[in-house]
Amino acid sequence: MLNKVEEIRKSALQACGQAGSVRELEEARVRFLGKKGELTLLLRSTGQLPAEERPRFGKLVNQLRDELETAWEQREQQLFLEEEERRLAAEALDVTLPGRPAVRGGVHPITRIIEETKAIFMNMSYEIVEGPEVELDYYNFEALNIPPDHPARDMQDTFFFNEQLLLRSQTSPVQIRVMENRQPPLRILAPGKVYRADSDITHSPMFHQIEGLVVDRGITFADLKGTLQLFARRMFGPDTKIRLRPSYFPFTEPSAEVDVSCIMCAGKGCRVCKDSGWLEILGSGMVDPRVLQGVGYDPREVSGFAFGMGVERIAMLKYGVNDIRLFFENDVRFLKQLGRQGGLVC
Ligand code: FA5
Ligand code: MG
Repeated sequence: MLNKVEEIRKSALQACGQAGSVRELEEARVRFLGKKGELTLLLRSTGQLPAEERPRFGKLVNQLRDELETAWEQREQQLFLEEEERRLAAEALDVTLPGRPAVRGGVHPITRIIEETKAIFMNMSYEIVEGPEVELDYYNFEALNIPPDHPARDMQDTFFFNEQLLLRSQTSPVQIRVMENRQPPLRILAPGKVYRADSDITHSPMFHQIEGLVVDRGITFADLKGTLQLFARRMFGPDTKIRLRPSYFPFTEPSAEVDVSCIMCAGKGCRVCKDSGWLEILGSGMVDPRVLQGVGYDPREVSGFAFGMGVERIAMLKYGVNDIRLFFENDVRFLKQLGRQGGLVC
């Protein structure tokens, strides 16, 4: 029997030492120390011994149990550490590696121009206002001195929903909406989307305009010209030239279209400026007395000027883009390139 104890001791310690993982160790523990394990069976066989030998034998087996349990505990600790080390080695993380840069979106160049324009005019004490894109015929045309049979309606190919309702073809209706509700002095800027059945390299069916309106006592054409010259210099740089061409709008008199020297060709003439060296960016004029009268102002008391600029045209000039459609294709490479030129984070 004593031999048997020694035998179990040896093979148990060997199994313990050879267990290569916590799981193998547990299997070995069950084999020797479990309820049906070899040591337990040995203890049960005590009954076969002569009575006087039983206590000594029992003590021996219990000692062995203690010894084995300690051995198992130590081995388990060791295996646990080894496994942990292997796991950490496999998951090795080089914390000195540079991180992957997060891709950040940027402000769309059109939004950027709108924001810059707002800032320029806010510096001149203009107030920012907005009007609806789905507009009544009355505001888009009639109140702007364009009656139903007026030939000026052909200047803009308008999207109509029905006889009364349309997608606004200009931001000028916002002038009327503001004047109807307020008294002069007024200095407003109204940016927004407008729609026309128009599409080529300088025309887009949806584009953005920024409307400006100033009404006060003693406003003259010189105020209009000075304001637009200042805007052009702030937007395009101090050496920018503008040119005022006599024009016609039913709601302004006199009227002028304003061109900026084409930066694509430095004024030499190219595809974008149609060989003229100039690019039209806005329409403007002195508010027609009939329009002032229509909203209840007295044209003998107050006068005003208004302008409506094409945001995409300004963006084309500022960023040297030769096709307006690029602004609406949302090609990330294009937007990134402009982002850098415009100093945006992309
Ligand atoms: C107007 O829309 C007038 N409401 C402007 C105005 C306001 C005149 C206040 C007087 C007083 P016009 O149709 O010319 O005018 O358009 C103004 C500007 O919008 C143009 O100078 C041009 O820069 C831009 N534009 C016109 N059509 C398009 C288009 N299809 N795509 C992109 N930009 C356009
Ligand atoms: Mg025009």
